[in-house]
Amino acid sequence: VAQARKPFKGSGRQLRVDVPVEGHNYAVLIGEGLLDRAGDLIGARLRGQRILVVMDEAVATPHAQILFKSLSSCTGVEAYTCKVASGEQSKNIKELTKLWMSLGASNVGRDGAIIAIGGGMVGDLAGFAASTWLRGIDLFLIPTTLLAMVDASVGGKTAINSTLGKNLIGSFWQPRLVLADVSTLRTLSEPEYCSGLAEVIKYGIVKDRALFELIEERCDSILCRDPETLSEIIEWCCSIKGQIVVRDERESGERELLNFGHTIGHAIESKLGYGVVRHGEAVAIGMMAEARIAAEIGTGWSDAAHERLEELLTIFRLPCDLKREGAPSARALLDSTYSDKKVRSGQVRYALPTALGEAKTGFEVSDEIVLKVLRELGAAE
Ligand SMILES: NC(=O)c1ccc[n+]([C@@H]2O[C@H](COP(=O)([O-])OP(=O)(O)OC[C@H]3O[C@@H](n4cnc5c(N)ncnc54)[C@H](O)[C@@H]3O)[C@@H](O)[C@H]2O)c1
Repeated sequence: VAQARKPFKGSGRQLRVDVPVEGHNYAVLIGEGLLDRAGDLIGARLRGQRILVVMDEAVATPHAQILFKSLSSCTGVEAYTCKVASGEQSKNIKELTKLWMSLGASNVGRDGAIIAIGGGMVGDLAGFAASTWLRGIDLFLIPTTLLAMVDASVGGKTAINSTLGKNLIGSFWQPRLVLADVSTLRTLSEPEYCSGLAEVIKYGIVKDRALFELIEERCDSILCRDPETLSEIIEWCCSIKGQIVVRDERESGERELLNFGHTIGHAIESKLGYGVVRHGEAVAIGMMAEARIAAEIGTGWSDAAHERLEELLTIFRLPCDLKREGAPSARALLDSTYSDKKVRSGQVRYALPTALGEAKTGFEVSDEIVLKVLRELGAAE
């Protein structure tokens, strides 16, 4: 089982979570200054010498530069680069083909590896390339967004988007190592940073009341991106996700808990348009809607808990309702929940909170209740 609160190499600020997925044990190292040590940390785990570094163009300077400097200290390592344009639109077959071509041109063999540096977009794209090149080569993830640190980098899901939908083509491919250097978060824009906080809050709601309370207590340090507080919180989230993934890698049970806020969140993203609303923003509204559904059907979710959720989202400048120009209709959102890839036998199954820090999966909710809640939140008629 993934272990929490484990100091890394004696330094108070560097933490480690082990994710022992069967046959693919790996560590998530969290702290400041890990990029400077990436050469040693990755070098010790390389099987061969050729690696392709796939980077989001937004992190080319300064973060990827620091990575390259550190890799240059690894004797014999030959690092090639492939830059990907920022934004979700790059997570497609064309960019994937570009990565395959770069792997071929750089002669990256079975003992080679990909290092992905950037947010979840690059992690998913490069992860899919790693899982398919020569039927699978090693993958090292260096997440540089909060969302990628607490969510996308743990669990081994990789994917690309297509005209068929988001993330429908992909694979499960666990990384060899994840380096979450919290210093990289300093250059992230405020909306991107806050978007990641929605997922952090989600972990508190579905799994850990103490985490939720820590976020409440330290919201000022979180907003200031204090590295110690961030390291602690990221470690906590990775530990929760790691434990769930170890028990349910393929999302057949417990992993569904992490979908809280995402059934309606995905509907909002697809109806408002990807890029118009950030994932974390859609999840924030999704959590408000699904928590209200929980109250309506009487899961035990209280008004007091609901107010605390709303307060925290507001402090982190995340949206709590759909009151905006061009809000989709409640009916369109409801219909969209039925095309979510998690629908089983035509029935939408919600993961809903039962109390602060506890949730259950598999709730089937009537269309009337979903429509009522969406209208209350400001969806059009
Ligand atoms: N694999 C999984 O389990 C999983 C889980 C959740 C989300 N995802 C995927 O992750 C993606 C979303 O991830 P994201 O929110 O990290 O988006 P992203 O990778 O698109 O990054 C968001 C923005 O931040 C910029 N950026 C990244 N790091 C930066 C830094 N340190 N400084 C300045 N700018 C920086 C990027 O250029 C981009 O503009 C989606 O594609 C989603 O499907 C995957």
